[in-house]
Amino acid sequence: MNTSIRAKKIYEKLTPLNHQLVTHPLYNNINTTSDLAIFSEHHVFAVWDFMCLLKELYKKITCVSAPWIPSKDVSSTRLISSILIDEESDRDIDGNFKSHFTMYLESMEQMGANTQAIKKLLTDLSNNSSVNEALKSHLIPPSAKEFMKNTFDFFNLSAHEVAAAFAFGREGVIELMFQPILEQLKSNNPQQNLSKIIYYLERHIELDSEDHFPKMLDMLDNLCGDDQIKWQEVENAGVKAITARKKFFDKINETIIENKTSQSIEQAA
Ligand SMILES: [Fe+2]
Repeated sequence: MNTSIRAKKIYEKLTPLNHQLVTHPLYNNINTTSDLAIFSEHHVFAVWDFMCLLKELYKKITCVSAPWIPSKDVSSTRLISSILIDEESDRDIDGNFKSHFTMYLESMEQMGANTQAIKKLLTDLSNNSSVNEALKSHLIPPSAKEFMKNTFDFFNLSAHEVAAAFAFGREGVIELMFQPILEQLKSNNPQQNLSKIIYYLERHIELDSEDHFPKMLDMLDNLCGDDQIKWQEVENAGVKAITARKKFFDKINETIIENKTSQSIEQAA
C-alpha cells in the first residue's frame, strides 16, 4: 500500500473525533469580546506549547547542535524547517516579521485580554525555571495545565508519534476549530477592533490547511514507511492529541458559561 494513502486513511479514521471539534458548543458561546478574552487566556497556552511541540519535533528530525551531523531524513528536515520558518517568523498584519505566538499575544492585548499568566510563564522560563516549576503558577488555568501536560508527554515518544500529534492534533484541526470561531467573531459585530486576532485566525487557516498539514502527511510517510506498528502508533497519538483538545475546549466552554452566569446574576442584583 502507498504510505501517503495510509496517512490520509488515518486522517479519515479520525473524522468522528474531529467532528466533535467542528461542532463543539464552545464557538456559539463566544458572543462578546469578554468571552473571546476568556477563550484566549486559556488558548494562548496551546499556542505556546504548539511551538514547544514543533521544536521538539525539529530536534528529533534534524541536528540542532554543533558539531553538526547530517540528518538521516533530509526530506523531513526540509518539511519541518519550512514549517518552522512560518510559525516562528511570519509576516504580521503590518508586514513585520513575527512569530505566530507573538502575534497571538498582541491580539490578546488588542482585545483587552489578560496576558499576565502567559507572560509570567515566559519570565519564569527565561529565569531558568524548569517547565514543571513554571507550570505550577496559580495564574495558569488548570485546564491549560492539563492540556500542556498531555503535549509534553509526547516528548518521551518517538519522532513519528510527535509528528502525528503535531499533524493530527494541530495542523489538521486548525481550520476545523478556527473557521467557526472566525465566523462567530464576524457575526458578533464587535465594537472593539479585533483585526489582529482575525488576521491570526485567517493566516492560520490558510497556512495550515493548504501547506503545513499536507507537508506533515508527507513527513509521516517518511517517518513510518511500511512499518505497520509505527502507523498504529501514529493513529494512537492522533487520537490522544485530538481527545486532549476536545477536553480542553469542554473546560474553556464551562468557564465561559460560568462567567456569563455570574455576570447576569450581578446585573440582576
Ligand atoms: Fe501551522
